[in-house]
Amino acid sequence: THQWRGIIEEYRDRLPVTADTPVVTLREGGTPLVPAQVLSERTGCEVHLKVEGANPTGSFKDRGMTMAITRAKEEGAKAVICASTGNTSASAAAYAVRAGMVCAVLVPQGKIALGKMGQALVHGARILQVDGNFDDCLTLARGLSEQYPVALVNSVNPVRIEGQKTAAFEIVDALGDAPDIHVLPVGNAGNITAYWRGYREYAGDGIASRTPRMWGFQASGSAPIVRGEPVKDPHTIATAIRIGNPASWQFAEQARDESGGLIDEVTDRQILAAYRLLASQEGVFVEPASAASVAGLLKATELGLVDPGQRIVCTVTGNGLKDPDWAVAGAPQPVTVPVDAVAAAQQLGLA
Ligand code: F0G
Repeated sequence: THQWRGIIEEYRDRLPVTADTPVVTLREGGTPLVPAQVLSERTGCEVHLKVEGANPTGSFKDRGMTMAITRAKEEGAKAVICASTGNTSASAAAYAVRAGMVCAVLVPQGKIALGKMGQALVHGARILQVDGNFDDCLTLARGLSEQYPVALVNSVNPVRIEGQKTAAFEIVDALGDAPDIHVLPVGNAGNITAYWRGYREYAGDGIASRTPRMWGFQASGSAPIVRGEPVKDPHTIATAIRIGNPASWQFAEQARDESGGLIDEVTDRQILAAYRLLASQEGVFVEPASAASVAGLLKATELGLVDPGQRIVCTVTGNGLKDPDWAVAGAPQPVTVPVDAVAAAQQLGLA
């Protein structure tokens, strides 16, 4: 029977590898594209969720990381480094294990979800908590990679973007053409850059008849592209996108402008509402940052920006298990019962 081979083998001719490249993979990609029934009803559109939390380390970062670690390996690197709000570090740590490399990660002190920290730890990464935000971590990681023998695997490394563009290929391959609109959360802006590159590549080669409009959403407290200037002290409960000066800023604006799209903001309250809707009504558990795409779609719908009848894909970028605090917070405590069918039935409202 056929098993998905990972994005490099599945899209080899569209990625910067040769026949001799030593592929480092956890068979990432091939993620579900799930029809979203409640969101489709609310918008009058055909809405699909690209569930990237189904990747090996639980986020879309694995698509870029298989490329970055593969190329680092090919170039003889013994160690890699990244700055991260959590998911990049989890992914880098896992792929470094596969490649037999040392992995160093720089994370903003106290601002990454517990699950992500656990991943980096269990995969044996060398973790430094930096007394600063993500933007400070990235500056530090860049400097270290320039001065020491350690390869930078953040999305400023262009092969990361190449790997991540494969998500757009999968969507076109599944739907038979590009959607009308593609909606994404935006943090460091690598992913919106990557999808736009993927969609353009497929359209350029005639595999898709068109490109979608790209809609990106930042968290209100961390919305430098919306504000038109860097945010010094970014804040949001969606820690994955708590970024004040995105590395791929210009490319995100290019994706927006060339596609006739938009980059807007959603509040933490809107993010949490979308997070709960996805879990309780679509059966898809994502982390808060991932819900920014869906929050944005709902906001745009309320503003009358969504014409009915369109085909829309929302990427939900990371698995809800990475940051379960928000699932537990505010939910009622489960009741304890004795080992007794009648008591259990009563509590469940069955008797
Ligand atoms: N969603 C999740 C779950 C993320 O982890 C990130 C970025 C984004 C969305 C935004 O994607 O940066 O390409 O615009 N996380 C990075 C990290 C910054 O370090 O894990 P982007």
